[in-house]
Amino acid sequence: MEQDVAALSRRRFPVFTSERGGTASLVTGATGFFGAALVAALLERSADEVVCLVRAPDEERARKRLLTHLDRHVPQVRGQFGRLTALAGDVTDEHLGLSGAALTALTARIGRIFHAAADVNGSLPYAALRAGNVRATLHLCDLAARSGADLHHISTTAARTDAADGIPLEHLPSGYARSKWMAEQAVAAYRRSLPAARVLIHQLGALSAHTASGVSNPADFRWLFLRACLDLRAAPLMEGGLCWLPVDCAAAAVAAVALAPDADAAGLPDPLPVTATGAVPWHDVFSWLRQDGHRLGVVSPDGWWRRLDARLRTGQDEHLLALAALAPALPAARARGDAAVWRALAALAAPETPFDRPRLRRSLRALACAP
Ligand SMILES: NC(=O)c1ccc[n+]([C@@H]2O[C@H](COP(=O)([O-])OP(=O)(O)OC[C@H]3O[C@@H](n4cnc5c(N)ncnc54)[C@H](OP(=O)(O)O)[C@@H]3O)[C@@H](O)[C@H]2O)c1
Repeated sequence: MEQDVAALSRRRFPVFTSERGGTASLVTGATGFFGAALVAALLERSADEVVCLVRAPDEERARKRLLTHLDRHVPQVRGQFGRLTALAGDVTDEHLGLSGAALTALTARIGRIFHAAADVNGSLPYAALRAGNVRATLHLCDLAARSGADLHHISTTAARTDAADGIPLEHLPSGYARSKWMAEQAVAAYRRSLPAARVLIHQLGALSAHTASGVSNPADFRWLFLRACLDLRAAPLMEGGLCWLPVDCAAAAVAAVALAPDADAAGLPDPLPVTATGAVPWHDVFSWLRQDGHRLGVVSPDGWWRRLDARLRTGQDEHLLALAALAPALPAARARGDAAVWRALAALAAPETPFDRPRLRRSLRALACAP
């Protein structure tokens, strides 16, 4: 990381084009959980074209991947899919995986870049996430400079730290948090070197299911935990609450800020927090689930982990295995070996299951949206 920080201070960005090339929005990460909601928010709030950079062997398959994903996550904007363009690309490539002609055409057509693509994996070390999260961000900064487009970098509250100087390793426990912090440093270096550029870092908090489609992020720890409570028919006695912002609220907030006239967006904090402003007490969350007909006994936290451990020794439930993968201290997870739990997690990422508990969803809607 030290080397990356030093390299950033020396990095030269392309000469900034003060005229925005066009009006289209470029979205990276549109086949992800947040990216889908963001594409929907942009289609709903603006009449402009939305170009999505999607990993695929060619444009036809990029479009197919994109539309299949959006159809599932944000079917309410199906009627607007005609304004979408899919480009087959890869953000880890310095030319974004595009041909010279395609990159030039893209540069001329975009007025905003939303960089939401990332390797979101809390278990990998910094070195494994560097290309996908840090180098990739620099590539999008370069495109922003050449195109004159505004840059909206999607980050996470996990990258937050109060430390003023140095690399605050003690505040950044995972390789993921470190890579997202470093990506923010890359954006900050871009901003310093090209002060005329319009750049904003959106720091998202934890995201819950889309309030319209009910589709959740199947690899999210909180979602896996709630699923496990339903499967085990037990909720642990816990202090505190669930601080979860519906993904569409977060996407709407990002889109609203990005589409606002410059004067309205001036003076916003940067990084801009996009988080739920309050937490729903766990007690209420479990009560709502009970009201929806789920049998949920109350057990001690230790008792809950023992139940989970016992079930893992005998069962093959993929959600429980995935939760175990995210809680490596669990004895049964260790006994099974990492490969089994990681296979389960990988399998989960494909057939996403909607966490469709209407009452919980409605309640989550009540969480205040920021900003
Ligand atoms: N979910 C949350 O609760 C949460 C909270 C805070 C912040 N965030 C931030 O929000 C952003 C999106 O997170 P998410 O939860 O939506 O993640 P996600 O569901 O894992 O989606 C990641 C997206 O990035 C794309 N991507 C990854 N590597 C790529 C590459 N080399 N080239 C092109 N595209 C690539 C993926 O494409 P493929 O489909 O090809 O894999 C996918 O579309 C991230 O920046 C994350 O840090 C998320």
